[in-house]
Amino acid sequence: MGLTEKFVRQCRKPEGFFGRFVGRAMNKGHAKVRRWGLGHVSGEPCAIILDVGCGGGAALRDMASIFPGARLHGVDYSHDMVSLARKVNKSLIDKGRLEISHGSVSALPFPDISFDLVTAFEACYFWPDLVQDLREIRRVLRPGGTLLLVNEVYENDMFRDRNKRWAAWADMQIHSPAGYRDLLTAAGYGDIEIHEVIARNWVAAVGRKLESPS
Ligand SMILES: C[S@@+](CC[C@H](N)C(=O)[O-])C[C@H]1O[C@@H](n2cnc3c(N)ncnc32)[C@H](O)[C@@H]1O
Repeated sequence: MGLTEKFVRQCRKPEGFFGRFVGRAMNKGHAKVRRWGLGHVSGEPCAIILDVGCGGGAALRDMASIFPGARLHGVDYSHDMVSLARKVNKSLIDKGRLEISHGSVSALPFPDISFDLVTAFEACYFWPDLVQDLREIRRVLRPGGTLLLVNEVYENDMFRDRNKRWAAWADMQIHSPAGYRDLLTAAGYGDIEIHEVIARNWVAAVGRKLESPS
């Protein structure tokens, strides 16, 4: 198995020595797509934010700067990523602004109506039941709250061969922009926006938990 394949396979659940290396590499390697994605929600009033599949924790660090008054939570089902994200964000944790928990997107360890914004960077490819898992996120959002999904792999002919290879290696579910819109709609989100950078294969999906029950 080549190094690229070994790296991509780890992305599903980074563990062990190599997994921690992958977590740190993703903190750096995802910086541009993360910041582009966050640009779509940075004007929103957010007092409390959750990052699902937080990996090595760089998105939490970035969001602490973008939303200076906000409290932050991260969750990941890899114990090694929970430890790494805590290490990377030690000063925010010491200040009482950030908590990182072990847990799955399918059963988030938070009560209903807990968050103004829930983000997931490069993570939803791996979720076991995307519509159900998006509903679980909707449960923890406040009415009017926002979901942001950001990925640097989506269904597009320009990247077809690479994406097919990566999807096979890491068992990734890859969707088209229209597919993301349908998934968010099926999970009960409204005010959906889909943004793309076609030349880079970046996609950001934004949805809101509408005030009236659906
Ligand atoms: C490709 S990594 C991205 C990490 C980080 N968000 C970033 O952009 O660098 C995907 C992360 O999602 C986590 N993950 C995948 N499926 C998950 C699930 N069902 N519940 C919670 N975390 C999950 C993995 O453990 C991994 O840390």
